[in-house]
Parts: sequence; structure tokens; C-alpha cells
Amino acid sequence: MHELEPIFNPRSIAVIGASRREGSIGHSVTKNLIDGKFPGPIYPINPGSPEILGLKAYPSIGDVPEPVDAAVYCVPADKVLDVARQCAKAGVKGHIVITSGFGEVGNKKDEEELVRIAKASGGRVIGPNIVGTMSNPAKANASFAPVLPYNGQTALISQSGALIIALDTVTYVRKFGVSAMISLGNMADVDFADSIEYYAQDPNTTCIALYIEGVKNGFKFMQAGRWAGKPIVALKAGVSAHGAAAAASHTGSLAGSVKVYQAACNQAHMIWATDLEDMLNKSQALAMQPVLKGGNVVIITNGGGIGVLGSDAAERHGIPLQTAPADVQAQFRKFMPDFGSPKNPVDITGGSGVAGYEGAIETALKCPWVDGVGVFYCETAVTKATDIANAVITKLKESGVKDKPVVCCFVGGAGSVEAGKVLLEASIPYYDCPNKTMSALAALRQAARFSEVGCRVDFEPYADVDKKRAQAIIELARKAGRKALTEPEAKTLFACYGLPVTKSSLATNENEAVRYAQEIGYPVVLKIVSPDILHKSDAGGVRVNLKDAEAVRIGFRTIMENAKRYKADADIHGILVCEMAPLGSEVIVGSVNDATFGPTVMFGLGGVFVEVMKDVTFRVAPISIDCAMAMQQEIKGYPMLQGVRGEKRRDQEALAAVLSRLSQLVSDLDDDIAETDANPILVYEEGKGCRVVDARVILKRR
Ligand code: COA
Repeated sequence: MHELEPIFNPRSIAVIGASRREGSIGHSVTKNLIDGKFPGPIYPINPGSPEILGLKAYPSIGDVPEPVDAAVYCVPADKVLDVARQCAKAGVKGHIVITSGFGEVGNKKDEEELVRIAKASGGRVIGPNIVGTMSNPAKANASFAPVLPYNGQTALISQSGALIIALDTVTYVRKFGVSAMISLGNMADVDFADSIEYYAQDPNTTCIALYIEGVKNGFKFMQAGRWAGKPIVALKAGVSAHGAAAAASHTGSLAGSVKVYQAACNQAHMIWATDLEDMLNKSQALAMQPVLKGGNVVIITNGGGIGVLGSDAAERHGIPLQTAPADVQAQFRKFMPDFGSPKNPVDITGGSGVAGYEGAIETALKCPWVDGVGVFYCETAVTKATDIANAVITKLKESGVKDKPVVCCFVGGAGSVEAGKVLLEASIPYYDCPNKTMSALAALRQAARFSEVGCRVDFEPYADVDKKRAQAIIELARKAGRKALTEPEAKTLFACYGLPVTKSSLATNENEAVRYAQEIGYPVVLKIVSPDILHKSDAGGVRVNLKDAEAVRIGFRTIMENAKRYKADADIHGILVCEMAPLGSEVIVGSVNDATFGPTVMFGLGGVFVEVMKDVTFRVAPISIDCAMAMQQEIKGYPMLQGVRGEKRRDQEALAAVLSRLSQLVSDLDDDIAETDANPILVYEEGKGCRVVDARVILKRR
């Protein structure tokens, strides 16, 4: 038996604080269990009443003669720990704690004690501060939400209890089928990962939908997602880039929780939802239909307008329509007048009746070229919407096809809404506009891609790294009381992990500078190295394109004078003599140690792309070369790396290696590194590599 069975699928339930007062939470929970026809025994617990709502009540859980799976806590916060002790003693394993007044108001101590008591007796706690749990297969409404939700196959897990209450009756209006609705509240014990793990193995659930405010353990969350083997839709609330302004590095200021959450959810094989509506739309399709195994979607429509809108939406959501091959067009042709179009969208035209739809649907389902079908319909006087809905249902059933998703877009009034209900009752997703329909199909495509990858994590650590030396560099900086590495230290650190940093040597006098410049080869760049001067250019601390010894000597002197003028007491380590890398495409790579997900890496194009457009992408580290290639492809400026205006393709493979190697560095040194920037990196033509020109490393506080 799964450890969470007593909470999510209890056989017997006690309501602690099952109040006599109508309208109270304890009373409502008891009534909900009765009204929901919970098949197992319900034990109201109340010291002041022998009977509640016609059920025998007990003064305490210890008085119940049989073992009890779950206890729903409806007593005030100051009574919860006593109740927990009694429940633990009575062998209760599922502690469903509705009561508020714990971690959410700063009372962490009692919250931890509650979990400790429950766990010491082999139990688990959901909550506190929740609406409760609802399971349709178990007929268990252990909550104070109005009713058991509309029955179906999505498990909806929400951190917010209010959202559960709000959506409960909406499920009936939308015919949004739910297997379970779970309120997680403070997540003192049972969290998203636990719930995902449970519903991944639940035979009554085909899709898991999450409403997330914050994740406590990012690693566990991501692992649960990848291991689930079922579609998961994630809706994250609170997506503002809060806290980013205070970040010390460039990458830090670009992070913002939403980009990191988005990346983490994607890596955890969760389908991102932009809002509540999007979450419901996508979940509906994922719960009801098979995944979209290939990219060939056919839209069958009686209206050119909605067909074109569907085509636009398909492209927007990453599943662009393809023109049907000639033989496929010939088959569709049979079901439309001459002025129809079989190309895709397959426009059977406005005068088409049921027969036209039936023929086109049958053709699409049989045709091996077609991977998925969107049946579009705009309400006309020629046909009844429900007749078209029934045609879809019949043809799908007759075809016996089980591996091609079919979704419907009916645009119209009451007739279409009615048809939508008919479709949903037959487990065929219905939407009222082309955009929602294609977004749902795109979610089915994404789910297919995730299931192809499975739970495999394909990062192979690099063996040719020098972790010990990297750690020694950090230790040295820490001993000197510094929170950031100097540029030469940061470059050496990067070099320990095989990043192609520009050649450089630290000179403490003019003669040394000239000698190093000769060793490196002209032209060279000189840069001030001082922990007190972070913005080198602002302090006049950089000289570029120095072509001979004389220029190096003048440059050295000028920089030293500028630095002293900028900050008289600056601790100057010397001047870095650097190889002047030839011009290339400028990109930025960096990392931020996220409070939830740990080290993450970032990629973007340099200059205006990153400064103004914020065209960057993140991943939770470590990442493989393939993943690093995908990062490059997903930024808007990707064509620049493919070569524009006659330029050749940039060395994306070399850049991917930089990202992947940096991801290993920040994972290996997770305890020490807060943020890094490799900025700029100059990327050359294919085969010619790239060079990290500047490096910054900020250390974590200890
Ligand atoms: N064992 C069993 N029953 C007990 C008890 C005990 N140790 N101590 C008290 N009770 C009984 C009371 O006698 C009362 O029954 P009665 O009305 O028949 O006399 C019942 O438990 C409830 O106690 P009461 O003091 O009336 O509490 P309440 O109903 O006002 O509030 C909570 C209890 C849990 C609802 C409240 O503390 C709370 O936390 N509310 C917020 C819940 C919430 O919003 N959760 C998050 C949703 S998102």
C-alpha cells in the first residue's frame, strides 16, 4: 500500500471537531462525507455530543472501537498538537489538517511538532491550512468545498485552498473531469512531489494539474515530474521578477523567478500553463486524449475564417500545419464541393452537413499521414451543432483509433455549448475558439516529446576538470575576505572546467606587462585588477588594441593613474595583460544559484539583445550538450547564430560545450558559487570555437 493511501484514498475517516453547529467547518466536512456517499465508516469526534448528523459521535479518537485511516482536523490551532498525539496513539496514518494558524502566521514550531508526532507513528500530514482533500473514486469529500467535483481523470493539486473552492463547482459548468482535488496549504509534510508520485501511480488519474505558489524542494519536485510518466500541467502564480534587482551579476539581474520556474518545469517534463483557463484547457485534452505522436495535424472545418485562425494558432503554439500530400487531398476532396479546399485546413465549406464531416473525419482517422485531428465547426442554419458532435463521437468510436488525438472547436451560441457538453461527456475535448484548441493540441504534442525522453537525464560529467584547483582558488579569495573573485581568478576557475578563456597574465609593473604582452602576442588588452573596482571601464581601467611595447607601457601608466584617481585607497592587484580576441558574435553565458532549484545556467545574445530585449533562457544545471543546443535555438535572436546577411553559421557546438561545462562547474561548486558571468563570449564561425573574454564569479555568503 502506498504510504499516502490513508490520505488520498482512505477507507475510514474521523472528523475531529465534527461540530453540531450548522455552517461550521467541522459540521460541513461531516456533512460533505455523508452527502458524497463515502462508503466507509465516518466517525465524528466531539467531546460534547453523542451524535452528529445522525452518526454516532465519540468523545475522542481513542474511543473509536475500529482502526481509522484518516483524521480530518477541524479543531482550533491550540488543540491540534493534542489531537495529533491522540491520533498517533490510535494508529491513524493520514492527518488531514484543515486548521489555520501555523507556518503561514509564523508558527513554524507547532507545525514542525505536528509533523514530528505524525511521522513518529508512521503517519503523514497534509496541510495545515487547507480546505481538505476530495477523491471521486473513493467518494471522499474530506473538505469544506461545496461538493465532490465533476468526475473525471485529472488530479488537481493546489497550494491555494481558495482556488480549490473556486474551481469545485466550475468543474460541473465546464464538465472538467476530476479524479481528485487536493489542497496542499503550508506543505509542512506532503508536498507537490509526494502528490505527483502518488497520482502518477493512481489508475484513476491520467493527467496531473498543479497550481503552484512556491516549491520547497526543487530537486525533489523536478525528479517527481520526470519520473511521473504522466502528463503534468503546471500553473505558477507570482511570476514577477522580484528580488532580481538586488542581484550582483548581470545574469542575476536577468533571472527572476518565472524564467527559472519555467525552465525547471520544462526540465521536469511539466507543461507550462499561462493562466487558470490555460491550465484547465490543456489538462482537459491531456486527461481525455492520447498524445500527439507526430506533427501532422489536420483541421477539418466548415468555415474558412476559423480554419485560418486555427492555422495561425497552430504555428504560434509550435505545431504548424502542413499541406496535405496530393493523395490525401484527393481523399478529402470527395467530401466537399468544388469550391472547398482539401489542402489543410480541410475546408468542407459552410453548406456541409453531417455527411461531409463524417467523410472527412473518417478519412483523417484512417490516413497514416495524419497524427491528430481538429474538428472545427461554426454554427450554421444548415446543421445542428449536436449532430456534428455526435458525428465526431460515432466516427471516432467506429474507427477504433486510439492513438490519434481528436479535439473540437465549436464556435457559436447555445447550440455549440450544448454540443460541447455532448463531446465532453464522450471524453472529447471541446473549446470555443481556435487558439485554445490548438494550444491544447500543442500540449498533447509536448507530452509526446516528454514521454519519448522518459525519465532519462542525459548529462555526462566531464572528466577533464580540475575541481580541487577550482576549490583552492575560491578558498584563497575567501581567506582574503572577498565575496567575488578577481578577473584572473575567475578566468582560471573557468579554465579549470575547460572553458576557452582568453590568454592572460597579471603584471605588477610595466616591464612585466611588456614581457607578458610579447608572450601572448600583439595586439593586447590591459585591464585593472582590483577587488575595489568592479566596473573597470567606468574607472578608466581598460585599454584595448595595444600594438607594441610602447603602447603597453603608456597604457599601464594611464590605467594606474586612472585607478588611483577613481579610488585612492583601492587595493590594486596589478594589471591583467590579455590576448585581444578577434571580433565575433557576442553572447553572454552565466549562472545564478536559485533558492529553490539550486544552480541554473543562462544564455543570451550580448549587447542590446540582453540589455533591452532580455532575450535570455535558463536551465537548471547540470545540462547536456543537447540541452545547451536547445537553449540556443529557443531565444528570439537564434537566427544571428545561424548566420545572417551572408555570415556563416556560428560555432554553436563550441558554445554548447561552454554552457554544459559551466553547468558542471556551478553544480560541483554549488556550496560556494552564487553567480557567474562569462560576458562577453565571442563566437566564431563553425569549427573555429569561441573565447570567453571576461569572467565574473560572485561567492555565496557563508
Ligand atoms: N476533539 C474533538 N472536538 C473538539 C475538541 C477536541 N479536542 N476540542 C473542541 N472540539 C469541538 C468543539 O466543541 C466544536 O464543536 P461544537 O461546535 O459542537 O461545540 C468543534 O470542535 C470546533 O471547535 P471550535 O472551537 O468551534 O472551532 P471553530 O469551528 O470555530 O474553528 C477551525 C475550527 C479549524 C475551523 C478554525 O480554527 C480554523 O482554522 N479555520 C480556518 C480554516 C481554513 O480556512 N483553512 C484553510 C482553507 S484555505
